[in-house]
Amino acid sequence: MNPDRSPSNADAKGVVLITGASSGIGAAFARELGRRGFDLILTGRRQEQLERLAQALRHTHSIRAEVIIAELADDAALEQLAERVRSEAQLEMLINNAGFGSGGAPFHQQDYAVHQAMLKVHVQATVRLTYAALPTLLARRRGAIINVSSVAAFFPIPYQVMYSATKEFIRAFSEALAIELRGSGVQVQALCPGFTRTDFHARLGADPERFYRTSGPMKAMSAEEVVQASLRCLARGEVICVPGAHNRFVSYLPYLVPRRLQHWLLGHFGRQMAM
Ligand SMILES: NC(=O)c1ccc[n+]([C@@H]2O[C@H](COP(=O)([O-])OP(=O)(O)OC[C@H]3O[C@@H](n4cnc5c(N)ncnc54)[C@H](OP(=O)(O)O)[C@@H]3O)[C@@H](O)[C@H]2O)c1
Repeated sequence: MNPDRSPSNADAKGVVLITGASSGIGAAFARELGRRGFDLILTGRRQEQLERLAQALRHTHSIRAEVIIAELADDAALEQLAERVRSEAQLEMLINNAGFGSGGAPFHQQDYAVHQAMLKVHVQATVRLTYAALPTLLARRRGAIINVSSVAAFFPIPYQVMYSATKEFIRAFSEALAIELRGSGVQVQALCPGFTRTDFHARLGADPERFYRTSGPMKAMSAEEVVQASLRCLARGEVICVPGAHNRFVSYLPYLVPRRLQHWLLGHFGRQMAM
């Protein structure tokens, strides 16, 4: 697909539905795709942020921007959203971006409800909404699904067991589906950002000023840089999109470092970072 559609060259405007659009990477996708003239459906739980963003985008770009409040860990709310996706005849893109972090403690000592919510938001919602979107996208023989994974998908990370495992699911699911859909006109991307300056780490209690690095392999990118990289990958037809050369280097390490050594390093640094 060609995501570079500005209002002036929009022949038939499509609709983009973004989960987790209230802040960070999701909000940056909304701003960029709104600027390119797509109509938007923005979902999340923080109504005020979503309404403010939708109003600004409507006003600036003369697009349609609708807000849907949905707790994706809630089965009924997810089904309602899936029905909305299924019935959107002009659907052009689905961005499964909603997600959250947890960790810092051993798997068995964390609240099971949080593990369950992560499974639902990262895995179940991504699968359900993708399933709901595909009939329309395939009938139109165009469009894309961007599933937001993480560089964490490339590593089995102790003390973030559920996060790295669910993000690996998203990567593997998207990759296999992309191969299955080759030639259909519908693209699937697994977007795998590294550290990105959003609300994500502040919600885990980190002080953004001290937490984010400005150089080296852990350098944090802006949400806007991540979105630009994702849309460039889409234009090039790349399935796995890792924004930033430093993150691509990190994502190659599992293929270069023997697994036993990886386990030792991950155990050592994982334990240190968890303390
Ligand atoms: N920031 C990073 O360093 C980083 C790195 C790699 C991957 N990622 C991934 O990028 C994606 C976006 O995160 P972000 O960094 O932009 O963080 P963020 O600013 O905290 O945004 C997360 C979004 O997900 C939504 N969300 C979280 N839990 C939800 C739930 N139960 N139901 C519905 N919506 C929910 C939030 O909406 P409400 O709060 O309004 O509900 C928010 O809009 C996530 O999947 C994350 O795993 C982030």
